[in-house]
Amino acid sequence: MHLCSAGPSALRQLLLLALLSIAVSAAPDKCSVCNRLTEAFEQGLQRTAKDNFGGGNTHWEESRLGSWASSETRLVDIQERLCSDEGKEEAVACHALLEQFEEPLEGWWFGDFRRDPGKSAAKAAAALRELLCVRTGGLCCQHGAFGPQCAACPVCGLRGHCDGNGTRAGSGRCTCDSGYRGELCDQCETGRYLATAEPLLCLACHPACGSAGCVDGPSESNCRDCATGYQPAEASGAADGRVSCIDVDECAATPGPCAGPNETCVNSPGSFACDCLPGFQRPAAGGDCQPAETAAGTDGDSAETGGDSAETGDDSAESSGESAETGGESAETGGESAETGGESAETATPAMDKEEL
Ligand SMILES: *[C@@H]1O[C@H](CO)[C@@H](O)[C@H](O)[C@H]1NC(C)=O
Ligand SMILES: *[C@@H]1O[C@H](CO)[C@@H](O)[C@H](O)[C@H]1NC(C)=O
Repeated sequence: MHLCSAGPSALRQLLLLALLSIAVSAAPDKCSVCNRLTEAFEQGLQRTAKDNFGGGNTHWEESRLGSWASSETRLVDIQERLCSDEGKEEAVACHALLEQFEEPLEGWWFGDFRRDPGKSAAKAAAALRELLCVRTGGLCCQHGAFGPQCAACPVCGLRGHCDGNGTRAGSGRCTCDSGYRGELCDQCETGRYLATAEPLLCLACHPACGSAGCVDGPSESNCRDCATGYQPAEASGAADGRVSCIDVDECAATPGPCAGPNETCVNSPGSFACDCLPGFQRPAAGGDCQPAETAAGTDGDSAETGGDSAETGDDSAESSGESAETGGESAETGGESAETGGESAETATPAMDKEEL
């Protein structure tokens, strides 16, 4: 209705949107739709487990209608809610499958299921998946099988899964979880050590360890080699090839690595930074440290460099004090520049870390 009142450009936009949504939502994968259908069936079984024909199962009802558990009434109740209405394409595909499966589903309900209606909902749903998605529809493979011919997956262990597992697609190769490797995903990736074998658990080496990783432990004394910015402790070099890696204080070197005017060296684990001395700041674009006072110069400058004066704290009082002298207005802009500048200072700081040496 409202399409009529919409202008031609709005109409074009709507059409474009409709086209886009068709292009974006490709036809839903039928195996997934079938899987969800059986999952919904499992939920339906659980939802209706304690129901009855209404008012309790009387002998009269039991003898006339059979027991509730495998009654047609319950089946219809479950079926009605199998296809969710979320996602139109999915719902259409789901209803199509349901129609295709009507006979085998009823056959199973009044046959296999009726013989043992008390078994767990999960087991019943698994049997239904096997019947509908695998055998009748040919949409999926059994769990542990992949590809068009439903070939057997390898055993991928605790830390991997078979590509295409349970579907008619995939390569059947083991895809390892992050941190694990090997054809069966039973080895630790470099940079990790074996924390426990059963269950297999690989944890990250200490950041002090280099590319060779570490030997069974998370500390800096379990390293096989040292990362950049760390060096082997003097007494280290045990028989099993492990070294203790300690942080290199780059700032202790002479000459120090921060030779620019008015800057100072700040050591950190594995690295160091050249920061400006209190009262100085590095322009957002980089370069030498400049006296913070220039921050109160022109408006444009103060916006750019204000962050540093905010960062260095007390020293910024100097510059903002000056601007306060020149009047209320500039004091205001000074405050603003400190705020906006704070952001640029944050983004600019990492660029000033020098990691060479
Ligand atoms: C395949 O999937 C099933 C069910 O999700 C799972 O139990 C099994 O471990 C998987 N197998 C492999 C090799 O990924
Ligand atoms: C800042 O650098 C200049 C030029 O190298 C120098 O003259 C001045 O003493 C330095 N100021 C401080 C506080 O280090």
